[in-house]
Amino acid sequence: MPFRARHLLGIAPLAPAEIVEVLDLAERYVELNRRTDKRADALLGMTLINLFFEPSTRTQASFELAGKRLGADVMTMPVAHSSVKKGETLIDTALTLNAMRPDLLAVRHGASGAVALLAQKVDCAVINAGDGQHEHPTQALLDALTIRRAKGRLSRLTVAICGDIAHSRVARSNLILLGKMENRIRLIGPPTLMPAGARDLGAEVYDDMRAGLTGADVVMMLRLQTERMDGAHVPSSREYYHRYGLDAEKLAHASPDAIVMHPGPMNRGVEIDGTLADDINRSVIQDQVEMGVAVRMAAMDLLARNLRADRCARAAGVMA
Ligand code: CP
Repeated sequence: MPFRARHLLGIAPLAPAEIVEVLDLAERYVELNRRTDKRADALLGMTLINLFFEPSTRTQASFELAGKRLGADVMTMPVAHSSVKKGETLIDTALTLNAMRPDLLAVRHGASGAVALLAQKVDCAVINAGDGQHEHPTQALLDALTIRRAKGRLSRLTVAICGDIAHSRVARSNLILLGKMENRIRLIGPPTLMPAGARDLGAEVYDDMRAGLTGADVVMMLRLQTERMDGAHVPSSREYYHRYGLDAEKLAHASPDAIVMHPGPMNRGVEIDGTLADDINRSVIQDQVEMGVAVRMAAMDLLARNLRADRCARAAGVMA
């Protein structure tokens, strides 16, 4: 088994074989999730805590479902009603929860690097559910599974990632994962939303949608992350949609069988046309949501196996 990680903090530390192992196991959980009886026992007796300092629908709900389907006790911390509101720090909150002996902790935080810092302070396996503008590894894994199922492979594809690249942890994790799997990646967006050194990341950079989309196999749209912007980066939503919003006319420049992706939440009429987003012949947006549960089940299953092995090895060391 190649997946040896203690935590899942980003895509960057993963080898291609580890990525493939997560996706292969997730395929089995897709089948389980389509049954009426969705129970498995990979996390039986274990405790998962969800700790989300930023809003979430998809990631938080899918971690909760994934944990429950695998037999774990799951607690989703209501951060807005917690002692964080009385000034308790991230680390004190984590140490407090750690004392309750969780086995898995899924954490989302607005600061890049906060989840990795927290992982150094606790005894359980930590999963990065999105940290600032840094990484969102389970999103990239679920996107990879969606692409592999739709296109029949996860390499030698031309993938266009479009929109607010600068503020997007989804773009960053996808860029790393798709690069490791030997795809051609194009970043498309206005120069104000392109990170410095984008070309050094191994991608081609475009500010013209039609040119960037030409021949693309996968079109991945991103939300304008206004909550991470200090000041205006685009003249207006209307102007942005005109130049960078995905509609049928712009999509016609991509491959005829190109798939349309969006991590959600979507701003219809800003980065994507609503009718196109709902077009089941082109859009795989709801598949991405479905794959999210399966990928999080697979990631937690593999982390739990490593955690058990670690604990056994330590117990054996104590006995010796
Ligand atoms: N894609 C994603 O992270 O969505 P949520 O913010 O709803 O979790």
